[in-house]
Amino acid sequence: MAGVEGRVAVVTGAGGGLGRQHALLLAERGAKVVVNDLGGARDGTGASSAAADKVAKEITDAGGEATASYDNVATHGGGAAIVRAAIDVFGKIDIVVNNAGILRDVTFAKMTDEQWDAVLKVHLYGTYSVTSAAWPHLREQAYGRVIVTTSTSGLYGNFGQSNYGTAKLGVVGLINTLALEGSRYNITANAIAPVAATRMTEDVLPPETLAALDPAFASPAVVYLASEECTATAEVILAGGGRYARVRLMQAKGAHFDEVPTVEDLAARWSQIMDLEGAEPGHNPVR
Ligand SMILES: NC(=O)c1ccc[n+]([C@@H]2O[C@H](COP(=O)([O-])OP(=O)(O)OC[C@H]3O[C@@H](n4cnc5c(N)ncnc54)[C@H](O)[C@@H]3O)[C@@H](O)[C@H]2O)c1
Repeated sequence: MAGVEGRVAVVTGAGGGLGRQHALLLAERGAKVVVNDLGGARDGTGASSAAADKVAKEITDAGGEATASYDNVATHGGGAAIVRAAIDVFGKIDIVVNNAGILRDVTFAKMTDEQWDAVLKVHLYGTYSVTSAAWPHLREQAYGRVIVTTSTSGLYGNFGQSNYGTAKLGVVGLINTLALEGSRYNITANAIAPVAATRMTEDVLPPETLAALDPAFASPAVVYLASEECTATAEVILAGGGRYARVRLMQAKGAHFDEVPTVEDLAARWSQIMDLEGAEPGHNPVR
């Protein structure tokens, strides 16, 4: 398969964990990779060029092509600089893997504005900043593969992660529209929902579960979504510990009323509204 051979990819947060694996596999399959990482701690504090440098060196030592970037995805200038690195060093941009992330876990009752903002800035604004900088290039060349990183915490919720879950479902909202706006330009937009043993999960999952969750498992899904052959778009693919599965919002058959129902009429048919028997993928009624 043509895969990603000769393509230029940006992987944000590629200095460790999942992003490192994505970058290594993309490079192994012939892509030129911008290894971006701010190099901070799990909560987003601090910065260092060491993480991105190390992974870029791993790639070049193995005979691949890579360049390091230390920009912060959370700023518009950072996103632009990351994409500029791809253009300056490799002459174009084809693939954007939005992977950078941080955590500030706390219950909603105790959440500070700062904790809320920090997480949305990196995951949601970060995905926007890099993707929006790449978008004109992808449109102009009529080819692009955008991948975002969602999470079961956004898709299904997780205690103490209202900030993170909000951002993670936000990026799914983004790909739903990018898929529509990109389709005539041969641009796809998809999400992966990884489950992996990284510094993000090392203290929340039990050791025996972590042992089965090598982050390398997620990368073939990313590289396939980034490949020329894969024309799937607006999909969410769960990838963790060797299991790959499509995730889809479904809509029940529901109940229909010709007249505005009373609250009691609606309550009387609540079980029919809730019944998922025969549910189908939802779609936007205005499309
Ligand atoms: N590990 C899991 O099970 C899991 C589950 C669902 C989603 N995710 C998502 O996968 C992605 C990767 O996470 P991970 O588990 O590999 O954790 P990780 O902490 O190892 O990797 C995240 C990387 O992003 C970098 N980063 C953070 N803020 C940045 C910024 N502003 N600009 C540039 N780089 C920045 C970090 O330095 C780090 O190297 C994240 O988006 C995370 O939310 C992970």
